Amino acid sequence: MVQAVRGMRDVLPAVARRWQHVEAVVQRQLLSHAYEAIQLPLLEFTELFARGVGEATDIVEKEMYTLADRDGDSLSLRPEGTASCVRALQEHGLLYNQTQRVFYAGPMFRYEKPQKGRYRQFYQIGAEAFGFAGPDVDAEMILMCAGMWRELGVLEHVRLELNTLGDGQARQAYRAALVDYLTPLAEQLDEDSRRRLQSNPLRILDAKSESTQALLAQAPQLPDFVDAQSREHFLRLGELLDAAGVKYLHNPKLVRGLDYYTHTVFEWITEDLGAQGTICAGGRYDGLVERLGGKPTPAVGFAIGLDRLLLLHEVAQPVAEQFSDVAADTYVCSLGEHLLAHAQAMADKCRAAGLRVRLHMGGGNLKKQLKKADASGAVWAVLIGDTEMETATVTLKNLTDGKQQQVDLATAISLMSADLS
Ligand code: HAM
Repeated sequence: MVQAVRGMRDVLPAVARRWQHVEAVVQRQLLSHAYEAIQLPLLEFTELFARGVGEATDIVEKEMYTLADRDGDSLSLRPEGTASCVRALQEHGLLYNQTQRVFYAGPMFRYEKPQKGRYRQFYQIGAEAFGFAGPDVDAEMILMCAGMWRELGVLEHVRLELNTLGDGQARQAYRAALVDYLTPLAEQLDEDSRRRLQSNPLRILDAKSESTQALLAQAPQLPDFVDAQSREHFLRLGELLDAAGVKYLHNPKLVRGLDYYTHTVFEWITEDLGAQGTICAGGRYDGLVERLGGKPTPAVGFAIGLDRLLLLHEVAQPVAEQFSDVAADTYVCSLGEHLLAHAQAMADKCRAAGLRVRLHMGGGNLKKQLKKADASGAVWAVLIGDTEMETATVTLKNLTDGKQQQVDLATAISLMSADLS
């Protein structure tokens, strides 16, 4: 048997039911904040990510699924959504002189080492806002996330970490100071950090190695380089979060793995999932639109890792009543081949009333059909035989207590609906 490719997950029905619930809550929050859905392609020119995410990032350096198109163009499966989102809005003239609040959902691809919570195909829901320079929209984004976590019952399981990277110049100046400090100590750095010293030195700040962290204790500190305006922006964001009662931790070492961030960066982190604890991350990227060829445009956004949010939801809400663990409410049995078309029509009427209806397939006697009805997990069976057809009724059987009654379809539908609501 051909197996799934390593790191590509199958989401089977039992998990997919929870998935749909979680995604629906997230989308409802986004829509209720008047964010608009957009859809973006899975494939883009490799250059978009090289320029957008950054040539020297792990993502672009070693994690992209890159292929040559038949005409020789270099294309990559998207490793994230922000660069594509900027490209799309820019390409369609939707960034110039206007504001936008949009969201997207779908699979992303990164060639990482698979483990719990880390996959090579994973699913993000991302939100981006363009044209707003102030901390008010940073706060809106973060509070919107908090609203999602609250509704999903996971708020108590996550903490919010925040930092500010300053403007592009502050970031550059800090980078240079860090490289100056670490270069003479390069021999003592762990291997990954030594490599990053050349390519992406800020990432050394979140190195796992204790000896590297010990060296960093005396290193120049990012907050000392952050410009006054950025500090003011960050303070105001803190005040807005305080006013809304959302707790956060200022982590001056939080730098994020993508190159486009300026000013605010944030991560929602849980301790309940082991090493892959960041369920949502984002920040401001005021320079990206320009870097991709547009006019300077302030922007901020985040992406939720739905695979991880789902794992956390399983931990926090092991028995969640908000979503059903069976697919059908009602099982329709037709007792004879000649009754099938009538049964189909009856099933459709039930569906139109909001019930989830499974129609029995493959014929067989009543006993066999009821056995299938029981196995389906449905609460109700609707039985249709010759008598029911002739009298324009159905026999409604409650599969929990076995009681049954012959009633017209409208009565059956109202009895089933009342029971399920
Ligand atoms: P990111 O931090 O690379 O940011 O990814 C965001 C989230 O996607 C992570 O916090 C995590 O939950 C999930 N994620 C990332 N990689 C994997 C993986 N291999 N397996 C499972 N989940 C994963 C971005 O992608 C930015 N585009 C976020 C953003 C939007 N910033 C501004 N706007």
